[in-house]
Amino acid sequence: MLKMQRFKLVSKTQSSFHLLNVVLISSAVCVTYLIASVLLVHSSKSPLDVYSSSPDAYASTGVEHIVFGIASNQKSWPNRKEYVKQWWEPRQMRGCVFLEAMPHGHDTTTSRDDDGNATLPPTCISEDTSRFRYTFRNGQPSAIRVARVVLETVNLNHTNVRWFVFGDDDTVFFPHNLAKTLSKYDHRLWYYIGAGSEIYQQNKDFGFKMAFGGAGFAISYPLAKVLAKVFDSCIERYPHLYGSDSRIYTCLAELGVGLTAEPGFHQFDVRGNAFGLLGSHPLTPLVSLHHLDHVDPIFPNRTAPKALEHLFHAANVDSQRILQQTVCYDRWFSWTISVSWGYAVQVYSKHMFLPDVLPVPESFRQWKNGDFLARVYTFNTREFHTDPCQRPTVFFFDSVSSNRYGTKSVYKISYENCTIGTGSPRKLEEIRVSSKKLDLNYNQMQAPRRQCCDVLPSKTGEVLDIEIRECKEDELIHMH
Ligand SMILES: *[C@@H]1O[C@H](CO)[C@@H](O)[C@H](O)[C@H]1NC(C)=O
Ligand SMILES: *[C@@H]1O[C@H](CO)[C@@H](O)[C@H](O)[C@H]1NC(C)=O
Ligand SMILES: *[C@@H]1O[C@H](CO)[C@@H](O)[C@H](O)[C@H]1NC(C)=O
Ligand SMILES: *[C@@H]1O[C@H](CO)[C@@H](O)[C@H](O)[C@H]1NC(C)=O
Repeated sequence: MLKMQRFKLVSKTQSSFHLLNVVLISSAVCVTYLIASVLLVHSSKSPLDVYSSSPDAYASTGVEHIVFGIASNQKSWPNRKEYVKQWWEPRQMRGCVFLEAMPHGHDTTTSRDDDGNATLPPTCISEDTSRFRYTFRNGQPSAIRVARVVLETVNLNHTNVRWFVFGDDDTVFFPHNLAKTLSKYDHRLWYYIGAGSEIYQQNKDFGFKMAFGGAGFAISYPLAKVLAKVFDSCIERYPHLYGSDSRIYTCLAELGVGLTAEPGFHQFDVRGNAFGLLGSHPLTPLVSLHHLDHVDPIFPNRTAPKALEHLFHAANVDSQRILQQTVCYDRWFSWTISVSWGYAVQVYSKHMFLPDVLPVPESFRQWKNGDFLARVYTFNTREFHTDPCQRPTVFFFDSVSSNRYGTKSVYKISYENCTIGTGSPRKLEEIRVSSKKLDLNYNQMQAPRRQCCDVLPSKTGEVLDIEIRECKEDELIHMH
């Protein structure tokens, strides 16, 4: 009681003064708030105001948000455009193919299909680069023109761009997987995304943290804008570098930005038979292939462009699943079966531990002559037996069909002249694989998991049916 009375007394004597104070302070706060909010609205690029780190803002990234810059030249374009035709979707995609001059005789800007629709990206003629020095002995000075494709692509001033993606004329993109991969990242931040070479030595020489140009690489919009602004002043300092990709990597390093590696991009620094690589793709959507002129056609008995077209028949049905590897075991015959979806199925006539199946069979030859570092790869390899009869039986992708229940892909045996024992997978004619269209969500892209497969009871001895599905929570991929 006493305390309260005292309080009342004190408050009465001070109340008018107090009230004035409150009014003054609160109006000051109000004015400050108003000024601050006006300022924030006006500088609407302030991250405080518009920035939301929620994936909703970028997980929807599609091919329509990408602008491509493809480096080519008069000499290679007439042949290489056959590769670009395979993946370029004129109505959805934006960008340019950069040539040093317009090819004589035919106008590539109007390459059209039977319906009169353009089938290729528009042609852009590169700006003159003769003012830049190039001093790498026996190198190609065109590296400067090609490096400046980055700047000239940004300067096309396209709107609603999230990513700029660059590649060579023999870089084959799987555009929807490219967009899916980029949708893992917030395009409003500074990103430089790509992959190194398969060869240890190439990475050692050019940089483990350089995106190799042939694999293709992506630069987020705000980073590309800044890079374009400073690029010419930067490359003047580096006449001694070899390639265009070295220049881009170096100028990004000067901006303080490093590579975000994505293993779906493939520089493909290999020769000969690429079977081993294609049969053991990492657990991420296939983004690109390169150097298809330097490897054998990826399917037997087809020309290189026709073989690539065949792979796209599968990719066009289930883009995210293309080359994805699943392994399962046949209990009856003790076979180990590895499916590289849309490409090949391999059947080993014995049970093998999963970690023995996953390394890349070294079916290819080394990219460059040289000491043993030129044969050291950046992934685990295993022997590819010289005797085909000692290898697993291979079934190559033949056809695919899909309806609302799922997808069925068929793989036909690749004949080898081998003796066939009882229980040999060489008695099979074809393998039929059923699956659901793969549609990875944001979390599955961030934290991928291999799928499982089952060998279904077979009706005949010539056909093997396999079903691919999501693994159960605690399911293990193992021999029985
Ligand atoms: C392009 O092809 C579509 C059909 O795919 C057709 O409707 C359209 O008229 C064609 N455009 C031109 C310019 O010929
Ligand atoms: C792009 O915008 C810049 C700056 O506004 C301008 O100088 C340039 O000519 C534009 N390029 C094209 C192709 O419109
Ligand atoms: C190669 O393809 C041709 C035509 O497509 C076919 O007639 C021939 O049998 C094939 N050869 C082999 C070995 O598969
Ligand atoms: C298959 O192999 C046998 C024995 O090695 C050989 O005699 C035969 O000529 C081979 N046939 C073909 C078509 O290569």
